[in-house]
Amino acid sequence: MYKILVLPGDGIGEEVVCEALKVLKRVESIAHLKFETKEALVGGASIDKNGVPITEDVLKAAKNSDAVLLGAVGGQKWDQLEYKIRPEQALLALRKELGLYANLRPVAVDPSLTDASSLKREVIEGVDILVVRELTGGIYFGTPKGIEKNKDGSERGFNTEVYSTHEIERIAKKAFELARKRKRKITSVDKANILESSILWRKVVTEIGKRFPDVQLSHIYVDNCAMQLIRNPKQFDVIVTTNLFGDILSDEAAMLTGSIGMLPSASLGDHHALYEPVHGSAPDIAGKGQANPIAAILSVAMMLRCTFQLHDLALAVEMAVRQVLKEGFRTADICQDGVNLTSCSEMGNLVAKEIKV
Ligand code: IPM
Ligand code: MG
Repeated sequence: MYKILVLPGDGIGEEVVCEALKVLKRVESIAHLKFETKEALVGGASIDKNGVPITEDVLKAAKNSDAVLLGAVGGQKWDQLEYKIRPEQALLALRKELGLYANLRPVAVDPSLTDASSLKREVIEGVDILVVRELTGGIYFGTPKGIEKNKDGSERGFNTEVYSTHEIERIAKKAFELARKRKRKITSVDKANILESSILWRKVVTEIGKRFPDVQLSHIYVDNCAMQLIRNPKQFDVIVTTNLFGDILSDEAAMLTGSIGMLPSASLGDHHALYEPVHGSAPDIAGKGQANPIAAILSVAMMLRCTFQLHDLALAVEMAVRQVLKEGFRTADICQDGVNLTSCSEMGNLVAKEIKV
């Protein structure tokens, strides 16, 4: 039996995970499968109950699961807390402790949503990008870091962007393997004109590339990549990049699809996996039924594919989402002029009902 640890977290995390679980239930019933799900607290919810963003027990439960499904963490309520006990630390701890070094963020424009983006239809129609973000290294985790007092009483805040050969090798390998299943084109994003860590990044990615002669590799500076994503996103197939650049570029790329509420993600390591929507906890709309559950639902599809190798069922979920959008149903974030405005739970019901084998 497959074991899934469910961590709804904060804000709209709870609402979207609820819909994702409906979809999972539907998959269970049509495919005669059984997933064992267990829920736990994470982020602000865990801070309120336990004083920490994630407990050792929850980390242990995550390690003992086949997959983790997470909603979102954070909110203004916890923004004033000391850095070490902010909700976001739960995510960082999960990523680090489970060794989830590869973060996959597919950016595919749904054919029914080509007018939902702020960009012109002809620019985004057919966009299909996979952002592969390094997730356990770089400036997010590098040391030294901190805030220190200067002699004059002012303060100095600092972080360290650092990458070692093996960290670059494993993420590059992952990206090349994924590119082989797609259009065999990789763009590696760095800032090698300025940063030493990027010079090493480029060198190691180039070395790994020699083992994949069938995949076309190119390098681009991050500032140029940010521009090209808006100018001509169709030039990209797989984008591989560092933790910080990937964080920024994946939010930018999300807007090609019309809404960050559409974007799922998988965070993979050698032994564990976590699935979560790319969007945050959106406290402003939490509890109002206005959230878009599609990112969470598509994260379940990624789980079915990447962890459980249930490729047909993953596709069935993705097709169901596509069909519901084709029929015109829209959550607020992708709705124009209030036509066919659909609540979070209605969207979950519609997609679940539409799943067929
Ligand atoms: C993301 C988020 C996280 C990150 C935050 C919530 C820690 O922005 O998953 O992209 O910066 O990685
Ligand atoms: Mg982010």
